[in-house]
Amino acid sequence: MTAAPRSTAVQFATAPLKICVLGGTGFVGTELVAQLAAAGHSVRVPTRVLAHGKHLSVLPTVELVAVDIHEPRVLGDVLAGRDAVINLVGILNERSGASFKAVHVELVAKLIEEARIAQVRRLLHMSALGADAARAPSRYLRSKGEAEVRVRAAAQALDFTIFRPSVIFGPADSLTNRFLRLLRLAAGVLPLARARARFAPVYVGDVAGAFVRALSDRATCGGTFELCGPDVLTLEQIVRAAAAAAGTRCRILALPDFLARLQGIVLGLVPGKPFSLDNFRSLTLDSVCRENGFARLGIEPQRLATVLPTYLGELTAAAHLNRLRAGAER
Ligand SMILES: NC(=O)c1ccc[n+]([C@@H]2O[C@H](COP(=O)([O-])OP(=O)(O)OC[C@H]3O[C@@H](n4cnc5c(N)ncnc54)[C@H](OP(=O)(O)O)[C@@H]3O)[C@@H](O)[C@H]2O)c1
Repeated sequence: MTAAPRSTAVQFATAPLKICVLGGTGFVGTELVAQLAAAGHSVRVPTRVLAHGKHLSVLPTVELVAVDIHEPRVLGDVLAGRDAVINLVGILNERSGASFKAVHVELVAKLIEEARIAQVRRLLHMSALGADAARAPSRYLRSKGEAEVRVRAAAQALDFTIFRPSVIFGPADSLTNRFLRLLRLAAGVLPLARARARFAPVYVGDVAGAFVRALSDRATCGGTFELCGPDVLTLEQIVRAAAAAAGTRCRILALPDFLARLQGIVLGLVPGKPFSLDNFRSLTLDSVCRENGFARLGIEPQRLATVLPTYLGELTAAAHLNRLRAGAER
């Protein structure tokens, strides 16, 4: 992690800020926008489709706008009058009209330029562990690396902070929930690519907390923070933990790489691309931190084993309701 404090006009007090969150309707965005609103900040969230953010519209200080942020003039409008911008926009697979280059690199270039024009100096940028413009094994990670290069090159005009999380878990994740869905569909038997790939799963509430903390901490400017949970687990261990928390049968067939590649090629052709060759390539790199940025931010990240039961297992509201119902029927 690097940190280079500089003098800046950005407010670093805990006073309420006006923030624009790109990608604020997604899994991480939903948690972050809720935390920002709870901290009293006013948050503008552009979305391609208003319905994607309707769960946010109940939050009192959140303004949802349906716009195309790839259009520079429109992006400039949503940034106008903001103290800070947070970029969470990301895709795991390309679709027609949404390439890694357009979504991860070109959008960031437009954001840097429009932020300069709108005089928004503070940028929190979401990257990913393993991002590297030249050496990463997948196009996803190379495009994330290229975006980081663009952000760092704008250091004269921007007080930026970059975050690079490992895989993120939480109630609406596409990690534990996706594997559970697949297990249930396949009667508890899961052919798994890169079963021994290592991750440090990180809780979405902690990731959002890191962004909120950075907004009030001048020392994070110019810094890149890797974000990892406390435990290093293989993909197989993560799937088994999710299945155990949900009480779902789980038999894992660890695929050799040549079959996993084939799985990526075949599923990459299926609508919605549940898995792709590029995803396989990302998994060839362990997603673990060299230096966990949470320590510098004063946040103690939560363990997967502690949080899973709160949204998959016996501590969920639904499970509690079922226990109450069962009691009432006795
Ligand atoms: N989840 C993880 O485990 C993980 C791990 C490491 C890094 N990350 C990074 O964290 C960020 C957030 O991830 P997430 O899991 O919250 O993703 P997500 O749930 O898929 O949300 C993606 C967000 O990006 C917006 N978006 C998607 N495609 C877009 C496009 N073509 N143009 C404009 N906006 C677009 C969506 O907005 P609308 O649909 O409202 O327009 C949505 O708000 C991403 O950059 C991701 O690469 C995630």
